[in-house]
Amino acid sequence: MLIKRTSNCTSKERGWTHRNLALQYVRENYSIKHKAVLYFADDDNSYDLRLFDKYIRKIKRIGIWAVGLVGGALVEAPKVNSKGIISGWDVIFAPNRPFATDMAGFAINIKELFRVNASFNSNCAKIYKEGPESCFLSQFKIKKEQLEPFGYNDNPKEVLVWHTKTVKATAKGQKHGYAVE
Ligand SMILES: *[C@@H]1O[C@H](CO)[C@@H](O)[C@H](O)[C@H]1NC(C)=O
Ligand SMILES: *[C@@H]1O[C@H](CO)[C@@H](O)[C@H](O)[C@H]1NC(C)=O
Repeated sequence: MLIKRTSNCTSKERGWTHRNLALQYVRENYSIKHKAVLYFADDDNSYDLRLFDKYIRKIKRIGIWAVGLVGGALVEAPKVNSKGIISGWDVIFAPNRPFATDMAGFAINIKELFRVNASFNSNCAKIYKEGPESCFLSQFKIKKEQLEPFGYNDNPKEVLVWHTKTVKATAKGQKHGYAVE
């Protein structure tokens, strides 16, 4: 289901209200018995359908992957070691965030939403320099090593979601091994 942005407020909390509403919707209208995954999509991103089939459908708890053209970088991606475990973040923006990912870079099995009442809240406003994504994910008390990374091991490594905007993109930085054109 799609909940559209209802106000064009310009504060740092922009886009939080409808995401909280979506979380409330899931908690009220679904139960832990439903098999479903929550993903915060955005009307100006570009999605490859394989993102849903190859990544999102398979998420047991919280899945995470590379996003193109975000945070001033060509690609933001989790750093994944040879055992398939996240060891850090290949990002330009705030690399020390506990969860250095974009809204388009993760999705959550809704089971987690019934375990933890996470939201975009006043505490996230206080630590805004970390971005709302890291604040949101921190509430699940899960370690980055427990996240499920996708796409890091494919050949070629592909980016299946792009933070496209309706303006000309300016991005720099490395490709981190991803096939970026
Ligand atoms: C849950 O679903 C009902 C019926 O569609 C709807 O009226 C209600 O607003 C939903 N809950 C939330 C929090 O959106
Ligand atoms: C969950 O969090 C929301 C937003 O912070 C709050 O309004 C709601 O009362 C909380 N629900 C429960 C069951 O704690």
